[in-house]
Amino acid sequence: MWAMQAIGYVRSPYRETRQVPKGLGAKHEAEGILEIRAEFEDGLQDIEGFSHLFVIWAFDRAEGYSLVGTPPSDDRPHGVFATRSPRRPNPIGLTVVELVSREGRMLRVRGIDMLDETPILDIKPYLSSVAPERLRRGWLEEAEGRAAGKR
Ligand SMILES: C[S@@+](CC[C@H](N)C(=O)[O-])C[C@H]1O[C@@H](n2cnc3c(N)ncnc32)[C@H](O)[C@@H]1O
Repeated sequence: MWAMQAIGYVRSPYRETRQVPKGLGAKHEAEGILEIRAEFEDGLQDIEGFSHLFVIWAFDRAEGYSLVGTPPSDDRPHGVFATRSPRRPNPIGLTVVELVSREGRMLRVRGIDMLDETPILDIKPYLSSVAPERLRRGWLEEAEGRAAGKR
């Protein structure tokens, strides 16, 4: 086991899960603040140079887990590790956000899908080295195709 602590908390406009956009085509454009605890502020040095960040956080309001479930973006079940379900054995969330600005230990970011007061476990610069043509999007691509066919 590993002991972890929150390096900070998300200040989000979302207070309940039903407020967060879900399903195929959902856009995450909400702005919020990543408020880093004072003792970790020095760790933000030079973060301003990055346009996007990985935020690693805890689904602190998820209860238990399901190894197979049907996500909002499909009507078919999938394994938890092939989805972004909050109900996972280790309740860890990962969100890519755009860094809008920094004021001291407050990072204003765009693209959050976390609830207010979500604990932040870590932040890393977003660097993608995967060429778009090499990406496969699995069942999500199939679900998008079926949804397009129904329109
Ligand atoms: C589908 S998950 C994806 C989260 C992240 N982008 C990921 O891939 O790990 C997003 C959902 O998690 C839920 N959620 C957000 N913050 C949470 C929290 N602190 N505890 C439990 N559930 C949360 C919301 O219902 C939101 O719609």
